[in-house]
Amino acid sequence: MSLSPSTRPDDLAGKVAIVTGAASGIGRATVELLVERGVRVVAEDRDDAVEELRGENVAPVADVTEEDSARRAVALARERFGRLDVLVNNAGVIIDKTVADMTLDHGSNTPIGRAAQPREIAEVIAFLASDRASYLVGSVAMTDGGTSVAAG
Ligand SMILES: NC(=O)c1ccc[n+]([C@@H]2O[C@H](COP(=O)([O-])OP(=O)(O)OC[C@H]3O[C@@H](n4cnc5c(N)ncnc54)[C@H](O)[C@@H]3O)[C@@H](O)[C@H]2O)c1
Repeated sequence: MSLSPSTRPDDLAGKVAIVTGAASGIGRATVELLVERGVRVVAEDRDDAVEELRGENVAPVADVTEEDSARRAVALARERFGRLDVLVNNAGVIIDKTVADMTLDHGSNTPIGRAAQPREIAEVIAFLASDRASYLVGSVAMTDGGTSVAAG
């Protein structure tokens, strides 16, 4: 058997993704990581801060209206980048408040003893979006610092 290195180490280069909730936290970290790895991204958020991501490889969608946002994002991906491969459906709030409003000790009860860094979640997303995850179908990649395992 011969081993040969991959010519595309992340198997992501050239893909086009839509990332929702891209202006902050996990979404922003995901946009940054995907672009680092050769992905072009339509970055969608209701917060105008998403404009800060605008660049050669990132097309922001700031004017998010519920009915039309998905269509607009898909159309932008096709018009600007010519294809669409990945949807990172990240936008949202947790429990009854935005994640930005959660207390600092959130995550201290995980086996790891801390909350995740956005980049740690982005790494899992990048793997799932890559060709390396080709045999993962309909699976849940539980990324919770071991909380669900500890709970039995
Ligand atoms: N951080 C955690 O511990 C945790 C745990 C479980 C699940 N999550 C989920 O992960 C996602 C991201 O979390 P985060 O920590 O990065 O949150 P965050 O609050 O830092 O970022 C969420 C982003 O989504 C945007 N957003 C919210 N609703 C939107 C909408 N309807 N349309 C467009 N943009 C919208 C916000 O403007 C914000 O920029 C959320 O869906 C959250 O529920 C987070």
